[in-house]
Amino acid sequence: MESRSDRKVFIHTFGCQMNEYDTAKIRAQLTGDGFASTENAEDADLILLNTCSIRDKAEQKMHSALGEYRRLKRLGQNVRLGIAGCVAQQEGDTLLKRYPEVDMVFGPDGVPAVRKLVDAAFDGKRVLDTEFLGLDDYPFVTAIDPAARGKVGAFVTIQKGCDNRCTFCIVPSTRGAEVSRPSAEILDEVRGLVAVGVKEITLIGQNVNSYGLKVPGEHTFAKLLYAVADVPGVERVRYTTSHPRDMGADVVQAYRDLPQLASYLHLPVQSGSDRILGRMKRFYTRDHYLRVVDALRSARPDLVLSTDVIVGFPSETDEDFELTMSLLDEVGFVGTYSFKYSPRPGTPATHRTDTVPDDIAGARLTRYQARQRELSLAWTRAHEGTVVTALVEGWSRHDEGVLCARTSSNLMVNFAGSRELMGREVQVEVTRGFTHSARGELRA
Ligand code: SAH
Ligand code: SF4
Ligand code: F3S
Repeated sequence: MESRSDRKVFIHTFGCQMNEYDTAKIRAQLTGDGFASTENAEDADLILLNTCSIRDKAEQKMHSALGEYRRLKRLGQNVRLGIAGCVAQQEGDTLLKRYPEVDMVFGPDGVPAVRKLVDAAFDGKRVLDTEFLGLDDYPFVTAIDPAARGKVGAFVTIQKGCDNRCTFCIVPSTRGAEVSRPSAEILDEVRGLVAVGVKEITLIGQNVNSYGLKVPGEHTFAKLLYAVADVPGVERVRYTTSHPRDMGADVVQAYRDLPQLASYLHLPVQSGSDRILGRMKRFYTRDHYLRVVDALRSARPDLVLSTDVIVGFPSETDEDFELTMSLLDEVGFVGTYSFKYSPRPGTPATHRTDTVPDDIAGARLTRYQARQRELSLAWTRAHEGTVVTALVEGWSRHDEGVLCARTSSNLMVNFAGSRELMGREVQVEVTRGFTHSARGELRA
């Protein structure tokens, strides 16, 4: 007889920080209760895919991984197979019908109930859970991921879902309406993470700037930043993702007041053209975006910015695209997550017929990315010969004896060092800048 405590769970995670966080919460609930975690699918009694459907490619990636896990099952591995996350929410029952090997399908709102869902699957049931939970008393999971112990940084969710309706985006339909998590619970989780050694907290949500606004008496996002920075042991605070429309003066002020707040901000712009921004229903203009950046930089002169860009949104002309190119230089982004527009089922933009031919979108993306690489490289190279302060996060995956550390401005520096530096702030002289990181030598 297999005993519950002998069971092993393997989780393959796709997509954004929300999914990484959900995976950690699934692991926290299962491993506290009869499961051990494994890094090896062939060893697992339960394989979960935590999936992403933001673009067609993300969905395809999950289908090819699923093919591999279904094969293991057909070859005789005694394993329960589950699909979680955004594709599960989007496709639901279709996945169960299409794949006889799949035992469970549950969306992001199934995460708090994962223990129950997994038990049902082990009782031989085929499980489907794609109901959205009620917005009052949404059960954010408080259990802390055992894997957070010994880590330098951790995510903490502050809201779920999204009430915006950007016309390209599937997230509102996969994650449901926005719910702000009670600040007392957020601060408890932050204290719990600090207690296991975490030093850097990243607050996550789809639109963090609207945190708390719909809950009478709740902190605003700015107030929450002050409260988190105030928790003893929190050395750095980051957050993602911000919506440029909602970036208020109180958050700008926090950059003056809080040295713990990182000098780096990811502020997705999507396009440099007002016409396209209007069609995306982003509700800001290029000029507004630039004014927000100016305000932030007067509060924090060394603030470094990165962004998200979509090229080839329906009806995008050469002129529109040139405006995105010029914005890249005008702001001087150090990094961009840039993608070709991908039509998503059920989103408003999917029905547009004025689509941009794939080869044109592809050429635009190539040009954008080439210019971004130049800017990224110029930025890392500008550090050569200077000494930076950086927090040591872990070992480099590529070189033995090499540590990775990150500056507040998000520059990743690799340098030779020893274990006792882990989690400490160090002074590193940058010797060479590359596109995504730098090499350096320890000074103190
Ligand atoms: N809430 C965040 C973004 C979440 S999605 C925000 O509002 O900024 C992450 C990024 O994926 C988006 O910023 C967008 O650039 C990209 N994206 C979303 N839907 C897309 C689509 N249909 N095609 C291409 N890129 C898309
Ligand atoms: Fe999607 Fe827009 Fe919500 Fe971001 S703000 S998750 S892009 S709908
Ligand atoms: Fe993907 Fe869902 Fe995140 S669609 S980007 S995993 S919210």
